[in-house]
Amino acid sequence: MGGELTVQPDLQHFYHEQTGTLSYVASDPETSAAAIIDPVLGFSVVSGRTDAEAAEEIIAFIESNDLHLLWILETHVHADHLSSAQLIKSRLGGKVAIGEGICGVQKHFGPVYNLQPPFAADGHQFDHLFGDNEVFALGNIECRVMYTPGHTSDSVTYLIGKFAFIGDSLLMVDSGTARCDFPGGDAGLLYDSIQKLLALPDDTVLCMCHDYPPQGRSLRYDVTVREQKDKNIHVGGETGKDEFIALHEARDATLSLPALMLPSIQVNIGAGHLPLAEDNKISYIKIPLNTL
Ligand SMILES: [Fe+2]
Repeated sequence: MGGELTVQPDLQHFYHEQTGTLSYVASDPETSAAAIIDPVLGFSVVSGRTDAEAAEEIIAFIESNDLHLLWILETHVHADHLSSAQLIKSRLGGKVAIGEGICGVQKHFGPVYNLQPPFAADGHQFDHLFGDNEVFALGNIECRVMYTPGHTSDSVTYLIGKFAFIGDSLLMVDSGTARCDFPGGDAGLLYDSIQKLLALPDDTVLCMCHDYPPQGRSLRYDVTVREQKDKNIHVGGETGKDEFIALHEARDATLSLPALMLPSIQVNIGAGHLPLAEDNKISYIKIPLNTL
């Protein structure tokens, strides 16, 4: 498929203010088949309470538009927000999916949290693991997965019609590119992945996973490949790979870790399942000391 006669998905974005995260519903107008990309579960470290408001907003949108949810797609293991994939699946069905690189992330972080069986670093917590270039269907729309590692080792891009859901591989043009200093991150790999994204047709619409608008600019969630090529402060123009790696090493060293990093990774490597309750029926988030 491809070309101008191909039906394009309808797209709706959702913004989670607390974490600056953008989530999406893409749907096939002909069959009402829908996919959610990167849904958020709110969480307060102070109270230990989860907050389903963002997920409920998406659920209400899907129900009021009579959409049929097929996929809940994660672009990578997010380190700054918890996923609401399981909450949404319990209400609307659908398959929770991520790239096969998840197994490497689980191998690294499973021991950090001392996760015990039934946890295993084999991706079984997800309903589907995508391979590179795997094709899948959203109703009558043919979609494709592109591996785009670098920000994390498991990062993928979902191509759905003219839209590309790129996770954090690129940020909005005035923010540049996401950090590569998490375990498994690699600035050289990110550079190569970005070249793949910039080789997509110029009018491809890249859908951001985050936006942190500077003062004076309003929130943006989409940007074309052409605009990224022209204006991205890290990779626009002719930035070379060595220059890009050096830029990241210097910049990333100045960043503090995301406030929700430890809770997010513990939940997200398990496909958004909250930790199993202990014998008192309460489930606990772990904070490994002096490990990161
Ligand atoms: Fe991320």
